Amino acid sequence: MAHLTLVQGDITRQSVDAIVNAANSSLLGGGGVDGAIHRRGGPEILADCRKLRAGHYGRGLATGRAVATTAGLLDARWVIHTVGPVWSSGEDRSDLLASCYRESLTIAAGLGARTVAFPAISTGIYGWPMDDGARIAVRTAREAAAAPVEEVRFVLFDAAAYGAFETALGAAS
Ligand code: AR6
Repeated sequence: MAHLTLVQGDITRQSVDAIVNAANSSLLGGGGVDGAIHRRGGPEILADCRKLRAGHYGRGLATGRAVATTAGLLDARWVIHTVGPVWSSGEDRSDLLASCYRESLTIAAGLGARTVAFPAISTGIYGWPMDDGARIAVRTAREAAAAPVEEVRFVLFDAAAYGAFETALGAAS
């Protein structure tokens, strides 16, 4: 079974095989983690994303799905872009958020990644409550991580996010 680990910091500084990006369906960049990954990773990532849009992903990447590109200048081999759901108080979109983690891990395993870093998908600009986002992330990673993935590293930007994941990890073990 894969090891779930927590780090407080910047996901673009992680040395792992695959870094997961909390993207949007355009795949053409944005703010938050997405902006940071494209800034630090350089133009090769965007060039790959544009190729995806010109090909199979002409209408963009659907919410809950994931797709891999080069990692450009990042210390990783791949960036796996996934589109989290926007938080809604009126509709339960948890399955879509779980799907982001599950699909990203399936793609990572297919590529041969042994270490995968995730941000707390949807918990920034998309407004998902951190505690709930952390529970879904930890539960789904536990269920879905499979060989050759050995480590799933959650990279949390601040102490509050780190604490939420620590609690989720404790509750799930
Ligand atoms: N490293 C780790 N975590 C980070 C970093 C970083 N460098 N920067 C932010 N976070 P967000 P979303 C945290 O907004 O909610 C973009 O415009 C942040 O504190 O990046 O899925 C996309 O293009 C939060 O906890 O992603 C989409 O349009 C978490 O990462 C939209 O935002 C996710 O925040 C996606 O929104």
